[in-house]
Amino acid sequence: MKISVIGCGYVGLVTGSCLAEIGHEVVCTDNDAAKMQMLESGKVPIFEPGLDAVIEKTRRDGRLSFNPDPGRAIEGSDASFICVGTPPLPSGDADLSAIDSVAKLIGTNQRGPRLIVEKSTVPARTGQQLKRALSRYGRKTNGHFRVASNPEFLREGTAVEDFLHPDRIVVGVDDDTSEKQMREVYQPILDQKFNCPVHAAGCPPVTPPEFLVTTINSAELIKHASNSFLALKISYANMVADLAERLGADVDEVMHAVGKDPRIGPSFFRAGLGFGGFCLPKDLQAFVRLAERTGVDFSLLKEVERINKQRIDHFVEKLRRALWVLRDKQIGVLGLAFKANTDDIRFAPAVELVQRLQAEGAHVRLYDPEALERAKSTLKNVQFCENAYDTAQDADVLVIATEWDEFRTLEWERLRDLMAHPLILDGRNLLQPAQMRALGFEYHSMGRPDPGSRGTDGRSTN
Ligand code: UDX
Repeated sequence: MKISVIGCGYVGLVTGSCLAEIGHEVVCTDNDAAKMQMLESGKVPIFEPGLDAVIEKTRRDGRLSFNPDPGRAIEGSDASFICVGTPPLPSGDADLSAIDSVAKLIGTNQRGPRLIVEKSTVPARTGQQLKRALSRYGRKTNGHFRVASNPEFLREGTAVEDFLHPDRIVVGVDDDTSEKQMREVYQPILDQKFNCPVHAAGCPPVTPPEFLVTTINSAELIKHASNSFLALKISYANMVADLAERLGADVDEVMHAVGKDPRIGPSFFRAGLGFGGFCLPKDLQAFVRLAERTGVDFSLLKEVERINKQRIDHFVEKLRRALWVLRDKQIGVLGLAFKANTDDIRFAPAVELVQRLQAEGAHVRLYDPEALERAKSTLKNVQFCENAYDTAQDADVLVIATEWDEFRTLEWERLRDLMAHPLILDGRNLLQPAQMRALGFEYHSMGRPDPGSRGTDGRSTN
């Protein structure tokens, strides 16, 4: 099919290049001229493992192209995927103005697509609003538009893999033609028949994804309900971590055993600085606001938000207990991205932590394998370092804020000798307490007993 993709961010670039990879003819467009220039010159504006390879290959095969003129980009396409941002408004509601401007672009285009696919994460009932907007904007072109909701379940860091080997494909439609067309779009993925750019030597045997067809409202609700449940799991683990710390129990061992129950499942039970990124916090907030506006009590999810926000407070108190005074202390921070394997720092807990430490008068040194460039345009008065050892130089404490693999296997003796004090506060429970103590570090983490050291009241001094 001929497909246009509107919005070349994390979702749009993965969607466009992977749809081209499975055989469609795709044109991507974005209203950010600088981003379009970068893409047309062959550069990829985001760090997403494997994405540049897919873009490069599908462009070379002539199936993927970029056009900065949105009108031209959508002309002649059978379907248009809306992949624009829906950032939170101050109220917490999703800002849908970009969706409305896309509706205007499509509605007023004589030769535009007739199937409009909502890929961006939007609150339920947005699809109905979108249909109304399209028919209003399309009055002069008496365009008859059809809308489908097709929420994305892409995790940053594994987005290409998640697109090509999804657990499920959710499609919300209210007419048969759209269902048929959406099935046609995803058929190669349903059959798992395409030359996969992720597994060049052949994909591991995966069960073909389910193609779940429902109404537009339900499909939109599935996305918010999914992400909010993932957030709930994380806050549940963090709540248990707070209790474990008081009791001298180990939250990782507790949640590992809890996750063995197949009804519960092991993932998203890692305690730490909490969840960040441009999905979980924003989707959770939008879901709560949608419920409030609809008159439904979502206090359960408000608690999930509160527990998550509290992580930074708890961690700063942990630092204060370890350092006594934070003012004028040298604090080395390892990791800024909201999670490993991405350069995305939006809503990253580490960004808030750095700002809190600076507000307390501490001097921050910072290193992240991928996110430093973005950090430089967000954080001021920070000493940006090129590696962990630079960050540890004369530091009173080293903080681990993002679960990058490379922070698991540093040269600890070298690091220890570079620091003013051999003190590590691990915000992601990345390291093993006993091992760090054996290396001569004072080590504290989240919800786990300190190695050997206990406070006078029997509380671990975590
Ligand atoms: C999420 C959903 O996983 C994905 O399905 C949806 O499409 C988009 O939002 P993403 O935001 O990329 O994906 O990141 P995710 O892997 O979900 O992690 C979100 C945050 O939770 C990160 O800050 C991560 O550090 C944190 N996290 C994750 C925990 O604190 N503990 C965990 O056990 C797992």
